[in-house]
Amino acid sequence: MNKSTVAEEFLEYQDKIGDRKGLYESVTKKYDVKRVLYPGSHIDIAPSLVIPQAIYVDNFKGAIKFFRKIEPIKEYINENKEYEAPCDIVFLGQDYTEALDIEPVDLIISQYGGFVGQATKKYLKTGGILLCNDSHGDATLAKFDDDFEFIGVVGKNNKIIRTHLDTYFVLPSSQSIDLAKINEQMKGPKYKSTAENYIFRKIK
Ligand SMILES: C[S@@+](CC[C@H](N)C(=O)[O-])C[C@H]1O[C@@H](n2cnc3c(N)ncnc32)[C@H](O)[C@@H]1O
Repeated sequence: MNKSTVAEEFLEYQDKIGDRKGLYESVTKKYDVKRVLYPGSHIDIAPSLVIPQAIYVDNFKGAIKFFRKIEPIKEYINENKEYEAPCDIVFLGQDYTEALDIEPVDLIISQYGGFVGQATKKYLKTGGILLCNDSHGDATLAKFDDDFEFIGVVGKNNKIIRTHLDTYFVLPSSQSIDLAKINEQMKGPKYKSTAENYIFRKIK
């Protein structure tokens, strides 16, 4: 695999998942993120375009194969990044629920990869940010976790919204949130108001 193949593979993947650079950039700028952990990243290396230090974790063999070409990946990022310093990229090809040999981070990204926030919050600095969606219920688990404070959602054009947060995580009347069911089924409930991404601050 040469440099252009790495770029092609990432860009092809980005065509499937959408361009998330703006999302990561918006959160990074707002919360002054320098170091990110992305468990269940697959080959979504967009965080490295806007965050100098990134740790990706995935145990899927396709992701492990992609990250084996770390030098071409770094070259691609260094040519396309938005910050001055050279990029610092670490990939751990392992189960993220097992111990990770890493220093604490400013941001954890959780995108369609299971209960990332719950499994890896111990690596998040107090005051650090969890950016997650609720596809698998990770945002719901964070909402009802005393270690986290719900501080925002990401709206259209990657705008961070910090008002009317009480309208989220509300079920139609007569229904109540069953955390045991979410843990079992790995699926977020159908709330009245939803956002593509939710932002939590670790407060403990
Ligand atoms: C649906 S993909 C999403 C990938 C990426 N986050 C995105 O949004 O494009 C889920 C990824 O999480 C990884 N994953 C799920 N559970 C994992 C675990 N316990 N440890 C490591 N990786 C895991 C899978 O291997 C897969 O690559």
